[in-house]
Amino acid sequence: MHGANKLQIGLFGPNCSSGRAVTLVPERWSGNWPDNKRLAQMSDESGIDFLLPIGRWKGYGGDTDYQGTTLETVTWATGLLAVTKRITVFGTVHAPIFNPVVAAKEMVTADHIGEGRFGLNIVVGWNEGEFDMFGVEQRAHEDRYDYAQEWIDVIKMIWSDRENFEFKGQYLDMKGVRGKPKPYGGTRPVIMNAGASPTGQAFAVKNCDAFFLQASRTSLEDTQQKVRTAQKAARAQGREIGCYTVGVVTCRPTQKEAEDYFHYSIVERADWSAVDGILALKNISPQTVPMQDYLTTRSQYAQGMGGLPIVGDPDHVANQLADLAKAGLTGIAISLVNYIDELPYFCDEVCGRLQRMGLREKVSV
Ligand SMILES: Cc1cc2nc3c(=O)[nH]c(=O)nc-3n(C[C@H](O)[C@H](O)[C@H](O)COP(=O)(O)O)c2cc1C
Repeated sequence: MHGANKLQIGLFGPNCSSGRAVTLVPERWSGNWPDNKRLAQMSDESGIDFLLPIGRWKGYGGDTDYQGTTLETVTWATGLLAVTKRITVFGTVHAPIFNPVVAAKEMVTADHIGEGRFGLNIVVGWNEGEFDMFGVEQRAHEDRYDYAQEWIDVIKMIWSDRENFEFKGQYLDMKGVRGKPKPYGGTRPVIMNAGASPTGQAFAVKNCDAFFLQASRTSLEDTQQKVRTAQKAARAQGREIGCYTVGVVTCRPTQKEAEDYFHYSIVERADWSAVDGILALKNISPQTVPMQDYLTTRSQYAQGMGGLPIVGDPDHVANQLADLAKAGLTGIAISLVNYIDELPYFCDEVCGRLQRMGLREKVSV
């Protein structure tokens, strides 16, 4: 990603209704285009580094039909790149359902419109229940990554100087392949992935520039260890990768106000029926996991789909983000209950503090 921030900050999930907050509160995120456009322009002007959408084809139900209304991510990114100047905007692409020649062309188009600011988030599998509507059978877990390897190899070849090439793999058999224009400025879009399994992580380390990992909720050392392991694995292949994580931020003038709002929005007023739908989809129930694990997971999903909750006053939030940087993370994709309402305060107070700590650059207007 562009820019010199030591700790990069992005916004995660604004293309979806409710964003990443499984909540009933009336101020929850609309996910509509006017709000997305306004948010992208605000973020661009405030020095936010990137926008990361969620590739979601079907909502999770519940009282709010959580993430039921979503803007398709590559077209969403293209529109936003046209109305912003410096922010990186990702498209999240499910490899098994996008033909790679079409995907390579769409992404290059977005990249030209954004003058090199398009990023690709490769998703290799997707939710059970979503793929039925494509009439495509989801492959076994390891096979998904074998397919995705061919998919990204073809895309990188199309983006390179090669022309009229043939590709014969186990899954893809393509002849006379070419794609012009090439990505903007003689480079290629930044690529990220968030594989969680050993196979998923190996795929990310081999192919991506940015790897998203789950930061520990309890130990900074654990997070540091995860970062080191991923970076070591990349270096063993002669590559450098940046490691990122996902956070759910509630920042208010006092610690108490922040904790009260967090409790109100995602405990008292959580959309528990949607949370239970998500858990059922992942086969997590009191019948399949021990009761205590079930309750912990249920509450973690309500609190932000597994992202790290960062709740507090600006000092607390800034210090927690600084700790993540100390653990070696390059950046974090955060979500807010209502991105537009909450972003200005976050940028003024938290990014201001991070600037003074030397972790972020001053925003030039
Ligand atoms: C930052 C981040 C973004 C993700 N974006 C999506 C997405 O947009 N759509 C989706 O279906 N899965 C998404 N995922 C899920 C991962 O891509 C991946 O499928 C999941 O972690 C399972 O990995 P595994 O195959 O190694 O088990 C995301 C996960 C993270 C942490």
